[in-house]
Amino acid sequence: MEKTIQQSWSPVSWKEKTIKQLPAYTNVPKLEKNYKKLESLPPLVTSWEIEALKNKLADVSSGKSFLLQGGDCAESFEATTSPKIVNMLKVMLQMSFILIHEMGVPVHRVGRIAGQYAKPRSKDFETINGKEIHSYRGDLINRFEATKQARMPDSDRLIEGYHKAGLTLNFLRALADEGFADLRHPEQWEMDFMLNNEYYKEYEAMVNSITKAVRFMESISPSRVSNLQKADFYTSHEALNLYYDAAQTRQVPRKKGYFNLSSHMVWLGNRTRDLDGAHVEYFRGIQNPVGIKVGHPFKVDDILKLIETLNPTHEAGKVVVISRFGKNTIEEQLPPFIRAIRREGFPVVWSADPMHGNTFSTDNSIKTRNFDHILDEIKSSFAIHRAEGSYLGGVHLEMTGDNVTECVGGAEGLNEAELSNNYETFCDPRLNYQQSLELAFLIAKEWKQSYL
Ligand code: PEP
Ligand code: CO
Repeated sequence: MEKTIQQSWSPVSWKEKTIKQLPAYTNVPKLEKNYKKLESLPPLVTSWEIEALKNKLADVSSGKSFLLQGGDCAESFEATTSPKIVNMLKVMLQMSFILIHEMGVPVHRVGRIAGQYAKPRSKDFETINGKEIHSYRGDLINRFEATKQARMPDSDRLIEGYHKAGLTLNFLRALADEGFADLRHPEQWEMDFMLNNEYYKEYEAMVNSITKAVRFMESISPSRVSNLQKADFYTSHEALNLYYDAAQTRQVPRKKGYFNLSSHMVWLGNRTRDLDGAHVEYFRGIQNPVGIKVGHPFKVDDILKLIETLNPTHEAGKVVVISRFGKNTIEEQLPPFIRAIRREGFPVVWSADPMHGNTFSTDNSIKTRNFDHILDEIKSSFAIHRAEGSYLGGVHLEMTGDNVTECVGGAEGLNEAELSNNYETFCDPRLNYQQSLELAFLIAKEWKQSYL
């Protein structure tokens, strides 16, 4: 692999590069005013939390622990509500308890939360009633409502996004502090959906054992479980709207480099990872751990150059490679990719996103995913890593703690006709509460088969 020479970097050096997936703000003075305002607001997270996550990810890269990253495809400002946040934290904690219980290693929880407001789209415009309007690009950029006005990029939304992220994070921190004691009750686990499933007995025994363990921990020391949770819930989003991320990218006293203080981890989307593009330019200057989504189309050599650019010192825990090939092509794409990264000696965390390569539309044009396809990609990912002698250290999921009907299949047998019952997503279809728990259970099975 050829090395490239790096130019000097600043939080805004990306402005000199080609910016993809970000429509121009037409009111430039307003953008400048909002940018300055955002720069002056207090940080949402701290540099030591970011470094702590990076250390934990270094453990993942050496096979000692596991990364559970998940949440909405697109968070909406309106859904910044108590039940949505509570349910998301609850399902993430329950999934992580399943994984810890079954795998016997620490699990690091990273939500797609408190900032996941900007979306890449395949088309810049869509036609509604004969009129061409901007595509919806997430609440950080424009409004979902299908009118010309609502879809104009509006920089006031940068400030609103910051406030919504702050409110979400504030409540998450408070909930984690409280310890989520409810989880010691088996009835908080909704087991009925597994009743007709071949694994029901195993699942029931596991939930009973987890709730007993939580009760036991709490009886020894009331603060134990809560401390554990508090220490280990992190935030992440796709750093797509670079104005939002750059304005919150700062130096901190007595530390080298710049930190994106809007979130613990950020990732580069599959559509914005061009080596000479604005997003890569921004990403190469920050200290946060970063994810790289890799799916079609990609060249192994480009990804190697990208990893070298983002992590020239080969720091462990810095780069999470998130593969999202789809169940039909993973067998062909992943093995040579794993070998190339190993050949270069990059200490990456490997994570599997079984969602984005498996989306399809029903005959009624509803965007969905099939639980079996998602599971297929998970199974293939583990089998391939196992065969290559490599460690699959994480999963990246689009999921919610709510009882939505967006993905078909799973033990509860959701079918296409039922999708419209509670289809809420603003972008891609998410696993619902039950599908998420079931998948965690099946992921643990695959991991055990591969690494125990
Ligand atoms: C996403 O994670 O919501 C997303 C758009 O993913 P990708 O960049 O992998 O398509
Ligand atoms: Co998505």
